Amino acid sequence: MLDRNNDNSSEEVIQALQDIQSLQGYISRENLKEISRNLGIAYSYTYAIATFYKTFSLKERGKYLIKVCDGTACHLKSSENIVDEINSYLGIRNGETTSDQMFTLEQVNCLGACAMAPVVSINEKIYGNLTRKKIRNIIDMLRGKK
Ligand code: FES
Repeated sequence: MLDRNNDNSSEEVIQALQDIQSLQGYISRENLKEISRNLGIAYSYTYAIATFYKTFSLKERGKYLIKVCDGTACHLKSSENIVDEINSYLGIRNGETTSDQMFTLEQVNCLGACAMAPVVSINEKIYGNLTRKKIRNIIDMLRGKK
């Protein structure tokens, strides 16, 4: 069995977790088992790494994670319009995923780009100075419609 203090093994696990999450947006229990099998390490070790880093999600979510900022700067620039547009255009609310597994919506406090308020991040890419039309266009682009 693998030594828990082996930096190479944790790097391999982290890399595998990143690869899977970037492909499907989250990591399933089956994915964790597969990583453990492929790397020849204990499931508990893979699980511990996956749950230690907040960047990894074990909760099913869409290919694109839309984080809508509702911090003070964004709130003052009517971020509720962006949330409302996403709610109606995609038919999802905070914490929900579209039925086609494409989009998950999360409301967050500050994305660190207040000068560009209102702001969303989609898979860590920041989009600022948003309007209802702009967020629709971004969603359409990600769906391959534009
Ligand atoms: S308050 Fe929205 S990015 Fe800071």
